[in-house]
Amino acid sequence: MSGVADLKGADFLTLASLDESTILRLFGTAASMKRDYAPYSASMRGKSAILLFEKPSLRTRVSFEVGIWKLGGQAVYMDHSNARLGERESVTDYGKNLERWVSLIVARVFRHSVVAELASASGVPVVNALCDLYHPCQALADYLTLWERHGRVKGLRVAYVGDGNNVCHSLMHGAAILGATLVAVTPKGHGCDPRVVEEARDLARRSGSGGRVEESNDPDAVAGADAVYTDVWVSMGESAHSSSERKKFLRYQVNEAMMAKAGPGAVFMHCLPAKRGQEVVDAVMDSGASVVYEQAENRMHAQCALLHHMFAGV
Ligand code: CP
Ligand code: NVA
Repeated sequence: MSGVADLKGADFLTLASLDESTILRLFGTAASMKRDYAPYSASMRGKSAILLFEKPSLRTRVSFEVGIWKLGGQAVYMDHSNARLGERESVTDYGKNLERWVSLIVARVFRHSVVAELASASGVPVVNALCDLYHPCQALADYLTLWERHGRVKGLRVAYVGDGNNVCHSLMHGAAILGATLVAVTPKGHGCDPRVVEEARDLARRSGSGGRVEESNDPDAVAGADAVYTDVWVSMGESAHSSSERKKFLRYQVNEAMMAKAGPGAVFMHCLPAKRGQEVVDAVMDSGASVVYEQAENRMHAQCALLHHMFAGV
């Protein structure tokens, strides 16, 4: 993808589909929306979107529903937590029906292959609202948050501490494209998917952004970080850890001692929901360094910027 114009009608299944200039354009639009949504109030006029959720959500559901309304469109929520996509009818048939009524499909699914199948079956754009592999809307909002704070993303060091999961994978893509360093600091046996790590490194090489993707099992690798990021130790749909596995994670808890290892002025980030007392303690979550609610707010602005360029803007 080589520019914002290419977002028109495009799917957004992974952050890896965007280039640096497109993401920076989206940040500019998001910042403008944040000041005033009025110029964007017709970006989705007359358009309906379906929001399919196989898993629970607060931020993603509300930020899409409210955001689509702000852009003049309509959102229809479909709870798929009981009947998974593909159970009542095939995912392909599902997509082929939906495209007859709606202009956009937003889907939170267990398996990436399901959101990919929806995208190939339907002629309307599909947005990945989280799957087992990626959470691209989250990473877009997170880098927007860092960009607002620092005026740039290039050259920043982000330490992701905890389970190497979907959120970390999309943060890796973002670092690779935008020229940041993402170090994934994970317990042994809970690292990132090696295929995604390779994909992100390849993205960094091809883009020439200067972005880097590092992996470590040593909590001291947060040294020098501009941001310390964590997420739940067990993601939705994964089975709970045994007590010995849980013990492995304790060294990776983001507490005051962990934050003290990071660079001066480092911010604390979390996609939320947080399990307070596990991956993060109250003293960090509620500290002045925490930007978690800015991240949550930016979910709506980042997504609305994406939808504006998909449907209206150039
Ligand atoms: N961060 C995030 O996606 O939150 P929800 O699961 O509440 O949507
Ligand atoms: N990694 C978490 C993110 C939730 C927003 C999960 O998949 O459950």
